[in-house]
Amino acid sequence: MKSVKLLVCALALVAVAGTAQAAGDAAAGKAFYDKEHAGNKYATSAGVAAVGCVSCHGANPKSETKHIKTGKMSGPMAASAGWVDPKTGSKRFANAKKVAKWFKRNCKGVLGRECTATEKANFIAYLKSQ
Ligand code: HEC
Repeated sequence: MKSVKLLVCALALVAVAGTAQAAGDAAAGKAFYDKEHAGNKYATSAGVAAVGCVSCHGANPKSETKHIKTGKMSGPMAASAGWVDPKTGSKRFANAKKVAKWFKRNCKGVLGRECTATEKANFIAYLKSQ
């Protein structure tokens, strides 16, 4: 009986931790968004010293995303900007497949690895707060 109670307790803790993580921390997300990383794949390809999410998505996420290498414009990241992707018809962070695809590509280009679940949740929390 005691072990059952412990198990229930542990599951409740995991559930609470999961919820906190899913909600994300907007301040941590902003720090992550703004941080530039020296010598990564994107920096090398664009011929600059350092690149972070901010380099393409912009210091003000309510302004256009402008690709650091190609100069291609593709809509602001801040949720309040209400940008709708002309190709998918979806708003920011509403299309799970698109979100997964871009997290994978851009985290690898900037960090050289995939982002953690916490980094992703924080990133989204920041942009939803803007
Ligand atoms: C070299 C330029 C570049 C950099 C650097 C970059 N991104 Fe992006 N990102 C893009 C482009 C281009 C898109 C697609 C924009 C569009 O058309 O919707 C995009 C889209 C995304 C999306 C999809 C958003 C949606 O519409 O739902 C996510 C998530 C994302 N980026 C995360 C990141 C993260 C996290 C970082 C930093 C670790 C980062 N990006 C750095 C260029 C960049």
